[in-house]
Amino acid sequence: MPKPLGKEAWGTVEEVLETVREMLEMDIAYLSEFEDGVQCVRDVNGDADSFGLTRGTEIPLTDSYCQRMLDGVIPNAIGDAHSVPAVSDLEVTESAGIAAYVGVPVVLSDGTLYGTLCCADHDEKSLGGREVQFVRLLAKLAARAVEREDEAVRRSEARAHSAALAALLASLDARDAYSAGHSASVVALATECATRLGCSESEVADLRSVALLHDIGKVGIPDSILRKPGALTAAEWEVMRAHPEIGARIVGSVDSLRRLVPAVRAEHERFDGTGYPDGLAGTDIPLASRIVLVCDAYHAMVSDRPYRKALPWEVACRELEDNAGTQFDPRVVAALLSVLDGGRNPGRRKAPGSKAGRLVASQRPANRSSASAAVSPPSRPSAQSARPRARRE
Ligand SMILES: [Fe+2]
Repeated sequence: MPKPLGKEAWGTVEEVLETVREMLEMDIAYLSEFEDGVQCVRDVNGDADSFGLTRGTEIPLTDSYCQRMLDGVIPNAIGDAHSVPAVSDLEVTESAGIAAYVGVPVVLSDGTLYGTLCCADHDEKSLGGREVQFVRLLAKLAARAVEREDEAVRRSEARAHSAALAALLASLDARDAYSAGHSASVVALATECATRLGCSESEVADLRSVALLHDIGKVGIPDSILRKPGALTAAEWEVMRAHPEIGARIVGSVDSLRRLVPAVRAEHERFDGTGYPDGLAGTDIPLASRIVLVCDAYHAMVSDRPYRKALPWEVACRELEDNAGTQFDPRVVAALLSVLDGGRNPGRRKAPGSKAGRLVASQRPANRSSASAAVSPPSRPSAQSARPRARRE
């Protein structure tokens, strides 16, 4: 029996469907969700088999009862489908044996069309305005139930996501405390950059995870290399260069993080296509990777390391500018410089005669370090060894 109308009675889509089907004495009630021209059955109650419907069934909206109802071609309630030409010609009327139908749109709180709430029967019915009014009321309850259920799923996924992030970061912290702490610091810069670049809330959320996890692959690098106090040899760099791929495999093994795999894998791709592991270039590199690369390099350069002191922020900013278009996405560099100029480094001033957007003098300091070296291993270790390195990796 359906639960009585009341505040606590309408917890689930299933309850709404059961109620509407029983009150209208129909064979079936179902809720469908629209996406890309298809209606997907989210839930169904009643004799689903005899209509060829089950949860997850996808039906093209073209030439469907629901589309014609939404277009106003047919009324919301049809008591005798064979007497209505606009549905009697539909193949499904015959194949599913539909004689009666009631359908109304389901609209979410923000006004977007979610799908439809429908009932159908193999026998003709006496259906009119009262039945349609009742189903419309139930459609509102269904919309609220969908929102509650989807929110619960989102919360559960968020909890799983946070737990997975925390576990992975703890493992990185145990192996390489600098990388773990550094990654956390990069998050704030990357977030501000992404916001300035117009990223959506969900893009920013994913970016924050990528910023935290970008170096997680270092857990797969041997201690002899990861914790080596001095410069790495060419052979050791080869091993170190595997960390984005290792990171992608680790992230890909966690359901709630799998969508981040391309960005984690591409964290050392360069804008000019000379990075690794895939040699992606320009906008083929995920935006999150391009943002993290710039913020990672900046933060590495202005951090003290056992093998060198932090570089002045002016030098670090100049490195970013000098490598914009080759190593870094120029838009991202401009966004970070704008962030830094917005208060983080209040002493920062445009250099006299500098171009708009160029925030420091073009002269390089004598002891400058390379931003490339800050985030990438050298392609020719012998040449690299002559230059101070802002960051090993
Ligand atoms: Fe890295």
